[in-house]
Amino acid sequence: MTSQKHLFDLDPSVTYLNCAYMSPLMKSVEEAGIKGIRRKLQPNQVLGNDFFTESDQLREEFGRLINCKETNRLVIIPSVSYGMANVANNISLSPGDEILIVDEQFPSNVYPWMRIAKEARAIIKTILPPKVLDNRGKIWNQRILDAITTKTKLVACGQIHWADGTLFDLVSIRKRTSEVGALLVIDGTQSIGALPFDLAEIKPDALIAAGYKSMMGPYSIGMAYYGSAFDDGIPIEENWINRYESENFANLVNYNERYQPGALRYEVGEHSNFILVPMLLEALKMLNNWKPENIQSYCQSLISNAVDILREHGYWIEDEGYRATNLFGIRLPNSISMNEAKERLTRAGVFVSYRGDCIRVSPQIYNQSEDMDALVNALINS
Ligand SMILES: Cc1ncc(COP(=O)(O)O)c(C=O)c1O
Repeated sequence: MTSQKHLFDLDPSVTYLNCAYMSPLMKSVEEAGIKGIRRKLQPNQVLGNDFFTESDQLREEFGRLINCKETNRLVIIPSVSYGMANVANNISLSPGDEILIVDEQFPSNVYPWMRIAKEARAIIKTILPPKVLDNRGKIWNQRILDAITTKTKLVACGQIHWADGTLFDLVSIRKRTSEVGALLVIDGTQSIGALPFDLAEIKPDALIAAGYKSMMGPYSIGMAYYGSAFDDGIPIEENWINRYESENFANLVNYNERYQPGALRYEVGEHSNFILVPMLLEALKMLNNWKPENIQSYCQSLISNAVDILREHGYWIEDEGYRATNLFGIRLPNSISMNEAKERLTRAGVFVSYRGDCIRVSPQIYNQSEDMDALVNALINS
């Protein structure tokens, strides 16, 4: 796959290596949004079917991306915190039960567990990475597996760590959680679309992802999968469209006790958003055409030389097998402080993020080798 920069409208005077902060929109995604806005100028153009058809297409497109054929388990959510709240509201815990998270996990995948743990006098167990950098990802993964016991009721983590791209071995974590009867809930915000995710293989209980980062959609829309563990759960809100046969507008006030099938009860109210849904749909169509594995290898070829040079200059970057290529952390040698690195990169117009003790670099298909050169030059030349 080659650079797709022409499909975007990035400012040519900056080096944007910060998809993990917010992806730029493709021009075609912008157009889909504008078309959506225009439709509301003449609401007679919005037909009854439109409340359902594009959301169904979005579900199908997301299903294709993550290999899930049960599209009525895929729902539109406004944020990760919303998607996680549906999970948190439907887990029953007893005193002493454990919820496992990893160190410095993104807060929308921590606060819900803090609340339910406090209410039930359950325990949050945070799995720390080793202090040494040698084999960091490997040891961290082993620590997660070792910490899962019969007390574990839930493991909640990302497919990769949001701050430094450490890959979590979800297949092994799923195997271990199944052995002890614990749920597995995954935040895919920083990986879905850019890194293959096979739902049929991993079989998580829930997968939650915001749409504005690796899925390259707009802000305030994301997608979630809820497995059978949540089939009889109580959703956050009681929206008319999530009720059985809501397609029949004339019959809406014959209030229906039943929900739509699968996990559709968990979908956010007004999910048929006529602006955001077509935008995310267009973005996912593009991702499905490219395929996450090709995006991952594009990023791999983009960064490999830079990774070698930075390592030669004393920077630390995780081994390939234990980190993603669309998001990785750079830890600094003693010779340079984080403030100094930040100053150099800012002066060079290189946009990255600073998370914990890492410079977080998150390239995508719009980046080219010049972008990596700009990053490396700023870091190795004082
Ligand atoms: C891993 C991860 N999850 C979730 C989010 C966003 O959470 P929310 O949609 O609740 O604002 C981010 C934003 O940076 C993130 O990095």
